[in-house]
Amino acid sequence: MEEEITIVYSSKYGSTKEYAQELHRRRGGKLLPIKHFNAKKVETNVVVFFAPIYAFGLLNLSVLERSITRLRNKKVAVFCVGASPYNPKEFRRLYRKNFDGPLKDIPAFYGRGAWQLEKMTNRDKLMLKLVQQKIKTKTKSKMAPWEEEFLSFYKKSWNWVDFSYLDPVEEWMDAKSPFEE
Ligand SMILES: Cc1cc2nc3c(=O)[nH]c(=O)nc-3n(C[C@H](O)[C@H](O)[C@H](O)COP(=O)(O)O)c2cc1C
Repeated sequence: MEEEITIVYSSKYGSTKEYAQELHRRRGGKLLPIKHFNAKKVETNVVVFFAPIYAFGLLNLSVLERSITRLRNKKVAVFCVGASPYNPKEFRRLYRKNFDGPLKDIPAFYGRGAWQLEKMTNRDKLMLKLVQQKIKTKTKSKMAPWEEEFLSFYKKSWNWVDFSYLDPVEEWMDAKSPFEE
């Protein structure tokens, strides 16, 4: 079968990679860690980037920014993985912050990942402690939804990976553009 999709992923602790592997299991194509991605060598019409969210940014998004002009005329989307429950308002804010310039208007999807305290580096743990301390100075009514949620999950490990978050990506893949027959 001709390959239809290139799936590229970044992942620090593995949950984003799980989503990328599942899409690969469902749709075949080429699966690559971002360090092996070369925009010049993409032969498929569809490219999906999987990236985890760290401190309101997307890991290695700069690679896509640098490559996007080479990918014009292709169907490109980004699947973002974070710890917070999906919240359209928060996701729009994340989108506005990260998908600017050459990435403006690129389709983006969200899936909830995992919180793996046993794997986290001391640096990440320290950073999260500072976030927690900052949130705790607020009264509940002043907290953003993600902040309240963060306080409830931050001290334990969780796995929220749910492959049904990939369903909208498949719908997007299968949707025909108005110019196609
Ligand atoms: C230091 C640190 C910062 C994080 N910042 C965010 C964030 O801003 N928004 C969010 O939704 N999740 C955040 N997360 C959660 C990760 O996005 C989540 O754990 C994700 O599943 C990690 O993907 P990975 O396992 O592929 O590395 C953060 C996690 C850590 C350790």
